[in-house]
Amino acid sequence: MIVEGLLTSTNADGKINVAPMGPIVRGDFESLLLRPFRGSTTYANLIETRTAVFHVVDRVGVIARAAVSRLDRLPDTVAATAVSGAVLVDCCRWFEVKIRDVDITNERSEMQAEVVYAGQRRPYFGLNRARHAVIEAAILATRVHLVPRDEIESALQMLAPAVARTGGPEETDAFDMLQRHIELHYVGEASA
Ligand SMILES: Cc1cc2nc3c(=O)[nH]c(=O)nc-3n(C[C@H](O)[C@H](O)[C@H](O)COP(=O)(O)O)c2cc1C
Repeated sequence: MIVEGLLTSTNADGKINVAPMGPIVRGDFESLLLRPFRGSTTYANLIETRTAVFHVVDRVGVIARAAVSRLDRLPDTVAATAVSGAVLVDCCRWFEVKIRDVDITNERSEMQAEVVYAGQRRPYFGLNRARHAVIEAAILATRVHLVPRDEIESALQMLAPAVARTGGPEETDAFDMLQRHIELHYVGEASA
């Protein structure tokens, strides 16, 4: 099963990067198959340091902003326990991993990651349609160069009512920001 969450990784100098990531999870998080695109900061960091921390989260503001490189500031973190890495203070569960095997045959690399330490910070809040809609919109925002514009726009139209009906301010703001980001991409494309 693929679980969408947040991955922190660090470069050799210890600089922390936060990125939404959807690894394939084996068993009850015994191991993860991370699939970072070559060219991403996450990919470079994992190649460099071979460690990361994957977080199960229930809030979507950071996912939305990190997806489109609009984090105003790094979320608060504490040091990881078993790897040299960073744990997000606001998460439900976290998994510290060591990369055991790397396959860079394809543009989307595959990295087998062993979970070497796991912890919990707070209970999962619950399922919410608006939060899931924001995750879908965030994925669309990272794929504007791959998916036809009409498909992106009709998907956003389908997602919008769930955000309006079932979300709170964080979900509405995140969805609006993603919509603006996508619109700006097309404005930029038209004027290029
Ligand atoms: C929910 C979600 C899941 C994602 N999963 C992946 C993934 O598995 N692999 C990947 O390369 N990018 C994935 N992305 C896109 C990256 O988060 C996005 O390209 C990001 O800008 C990469 O950041 P980085 O350059 O800081 O590593 C995902 C985005 C979202 C919103």
